[in-house]
Amino acid sequence: MNVLFTEQQIQQRIGELGKQISADYAGSSVTIVGILSGCLMVMADLLRRTSIPVRTAFISASSYGGTRTSPGQLTINDSMLTDLQGRDILLLDDIYDTGQTMQKVVVHLQQCQPASVATAAMLWKPDRNQTGMEPDYFGFRIPDKFVVGYGLDYNERFRELPWIGIPDEHDLQQAAE
Ligand code: IMP
Ligand code: MG
Repeated sequence: MNVLFTEQQIQQRIGELGKQISADYAGSSVTIVGILSGCLMVMADLLRRTSIPVRTAFISASSYGGTRTSPGQLTINDSMLTDLQGRDILLLDDIYDTGQTMQKVVVHLQQCQPASVATAAMLWKPDRNQTGMEPDYFGFRIPDKFVVGYGLDYNERFRELPWIGIPDEHDLQQAAE
């Protein structure tokens, strides 16, 4: 595994994002809607670094039948959502890759009639963008490489790592077992 961002680098950046978001929503409140399961680490850390009233909600989006680089059909499960009408929403995911997931979930959340919807992701692969959209907040821009850790998985493995890395063939083989 080739470490791309250490735990310390990630935590420092999350602190900066927390300050930025707290300043942007100052005098108001924000509902952070995490996209499961990738959001789990960044959600928990970002929540602890915000200094404004925050509500939380979760939605799940997963693509089945896809490969590592091209996801299949996206399935959205909103049965865990709380009432979002009139709320300022910050949609949060682990990574903004092609942007398809974020874009589809944003469209889905519009049905809830929120006051506003912004997007945030820990990582952003600008070279892969297919939507013409950009995340409003992001931790780090990365090249078009498959990464794991800090919530990001391969076959539901590696989410627990406190750092982000590029797995080698050996790591991927182990995870496939
Ligand atoms: P998008 O819809 O192409 O933006 O892809 C977003 C989803 O694909 C993320 O929520 C991740 O679950 C997954 N994904 C994209 N790139 C990576 C990666 O490098 N590692 C792990 N998961 C990824
Ligand atoms: Mg994911």
